[in-house]
Formats: sequence, C-alpha cells, structure tokens
Amino acid sequence: MRAVDIIAKKRDGQALSQAEIQWFIENYTRGDLPDYQAAALLMAILLRGMEREEIFHLTSIMAASGEQLDLSDIIPYAVDKHSSGGVGDKTTLVVLPLVAACGVPAAKMSGRGLGISGGTLDKLDAIPGLNSKLTIDEFRSLAQKNGIVLCGQTGDLAPADGKLYALRDVTATVPSLPLIASSIMSKKLAAGANGIVLDVKVGVGAFMTTLEDARALAQMMVDIGADAGRDMIAVISDMNQPLGVAIGNALEVVEAVEVLQGGGPADFREHCLHVAGLMLRLAGRGQRWTDMAEIREFLVQRLEGGQALDKLRQMIAAQGGDTRVLDNPLLLPQARIIETMVAERSGYISQIAADKIGMAAFELGAGREKKTDSIDLAVGVKVHFKVGDYVKEGAPLITIFVNDPERLKRAQFHLQQAVWYSDTPVEPLPLFYDTIYGSK
Ligand code: URA
Repeated sequence: MRAVDIIAKKRDGQALSQAEIQWFIENYTRGDLPDYQAAALLMAILLRGMEREEIFHLTSIMAASGEQLDLSDIIPYAVDKHSSGGVGDKTTLVVLPLVAACGVPAAKMSGRGLGISGGTLDKLDAIPGLNSKLTIDEFRSLAQKNGIVLCGQTGDLAPADGKLYALRDVTATVPSLPLIASSIMSKKLAAGANGIVLDVKVGVGAFMTTLEDARALAQMMVDIGADAGRDMIAVISDMNQPLGVAIGNALEVVEAVEVLQGGGPADFREHCLHVAGLMLRLAGRGQRWTDMAEIREFLVQRLEGGQALDKLRQMIAAQGGDTRVLDNPLLLPQARIIETMVAERSGYISQIAADKIGMAAFELGAGREKKTDSIDLAVGVKVHFKVGDYVKEGAPLITIFVNDPERLKRAQFHLQQAVWYSDTPVEPLPLFYDTIYGSK
C-alpha cells in the first residue's frame, strides 16, 4: 500500500477499507509515515467525512494501538462515563461514588482541562496528597478492593490518538465529527468498560454549539460503542450556562461534596442523579434498574444516607489523599482575594454565558491554554443565579476568588459581558435536550 493512494481515495470521497485505515494508522504511529501525509489524510477526512464502518475501524485501530484494559476478571460489569467537557462540570466527582455506593464498581480514568473546559484530574489535584497517577496494577487492585478508583489516563492508552490529536491541533482538523468521535471513543474502548454513558454538552460553553452537531456527535459515538459490543447511552445536556454554581478546581470539589452531603445546587444535583441513573440502568442490563423514577429514589437514598460520601472518602484515603477536606473545605487551596460582583439592574436573567464565565475562570488562572501550562487550583467564580431567575439591582451575582489583582481585572471584563437581563419573564434552560440509545 502507499499513503498517497489512501489520501487520494479519501480526497475523492471514497470509503477506506479496514486494511487501508489499519496500514495508515499503524505506520504513522510507529513513525514510518511523515506528519505531512497524516495531516493530508486528516484534512481529507474533515472535508469528506467517514461512513459508520470506517469510523468504527479507525476507532478500534486507535484503541488497539496501546494497552487495552480488561477488567472482566475482577469486575462483572464495568461502567464508565464521559463528558465532552464544559464549564463547572464536576459530575464525575459525584456520580462515581454514587454508583459505587449502589454496589456498581466505578473505575474511571479522567483527563485534564483545556481552554475554558475543566478536567476532573485538575479537580483531584486540589485534594492534598491525592495520587491520581496510578499504574494499571494499582488501578485494577483498587477497582477490585474498593469498587471505586479515579485516576489519570496512563500514557499507553490509545497512543495513536495522542499522536494524531497533537497533529490535528496544529492543522485545523480538530472540528471533524468522525475525528472527535473516534478520538474520544478510542480511549473509552481501551479503558475496558462494558457500558458507557456519554454526556455530550451543547451550547455556547461547549465544543458543540448547535443541537444538530451535538446529536450527530452523540449518535456517532453511540454507534462506535455499539459496533464494538458495548452498551451505550448518550445524553445531550445544556452548556449555555455553567453547571451548578462553582467554577474553579477547589471550589468545584467543595460543591461536589455538598451534593454528596445531600445539598448542593439543584441543577447540578439533578444532572448527577440522571447521569448516575443511566449508569445504573446500563449496569442492570435490562434485568434490574429499569425504571428511572425508582432508580432516582434509590440514588437519593444513597446521597441522603451518606453512603455516597463514604465511598468518596474511601477513594480519597486509598489514593493517599487527605480525607479531612470532606469535613473542612478550608483545607483545600484558598484564594487570597474574594470580590463580589452585584447585579447592575433589576430584571430576569436571560443569559449567563458559559463561554464568558469559562473565560473569566481561565483569566483568573483556573484553566490552561496548553497541556503543559500550570494552573491555580484555588481560584474561580461562583455564579449565584440561573437563567430565568429574577434579581434585584445590587444583589450579589458573582463571587470571584483570585490571587492576583491584575487577573481579577481581566476576569471582570468577561464577567461583565456574561450576564444579560430582561424586563419580561424568561424560561429556565432545560438540563437535558435528548437521550440516544445504542443499537447495532
Ligand atoms: N476530546 C478528545 O479526546 N478528542 C477530541 O478530538 C476532542 C475532545
């Protein structure tokens, strides 16, 4: 085979065979094909698209390019979740202990944040002492012993994706749905879950800004998983306004703990109950946990009875973290300066633009531009209102947590543009827009 023929075939809009995709990806990952040929193929895929079968082959080949976890000898059914990333999304910190508290083993590998999107691994870093760099053996052993483990992805999970993603980043080929879907799903397949709940965000603060694109991405990922023999559910959830109140790593840990203590912001709590409910539904495999109202009741009992919080405590202790943070949030990184932004007029909130809030948190130092940038775990914002709420002029609207006055000014610039008012009532935003089930 020749790389140039495969590039030309895709350039002309034809479907590539499994053998062609395999040959290309394997040679590129080994370093036997130059970046310029891989870049040309990526651009041809972006412009011409891929069929379901091609996307499945590309994903499976990337998943098989490194280590592939098999948890079947230690866990009867491994359930995982993935969020396409958003502002204030700390769902994993709640749903993992919550499903584990229901007796469903929860073993998950998470990533770091990039741009305005947060990442679970950064939030874990806010917990003093917690080790999120586990070996595969440690990961397996904690999954078996405690039924809960959360850590960073090992370097050898889908290395082909790592190499291709870096190339996409510098060749304007990131926003291709087949490339995004195969990139995300290659890592999910390699992580060994039997059932996966995908939380695809849509809105101004998400990767996908239109419902049409979000649905198409969700469907593509669900199809890949189903073709690979995994049980799949995708939800399309709102990311026009931040999820919950807190945005920023340590602040989000505190909010997740509040939900595990039976409180927390209503939208975030509901979001977690739904995602955890779908994870239980997958784990029940059609024999138990079939009714979502009953599942919700069961989960609420686990939250209010403290079992979910106990699971998080167990996880933090097993990974060397300081569990006292669960009772005393002051042990988490704290910002030196706390500023309040008040409502500049009375009215109904018509917009709390998640992208602007995310940019503000980024300017405060909560996010990174490049993978190698360091971040400030203490900083962030708390947004006290939701779209549809009525506020009075002068009411505290946003609390800003920061360490550097210059950064504060830059963040305030974004925050001032984030909030819009209306004189007439505004409908609250839905939490979810759609659910997509996998079928082969
Ligand atoms: N996240 C990924 O892992 N890959 C993409 O292509 C986009 C988001």
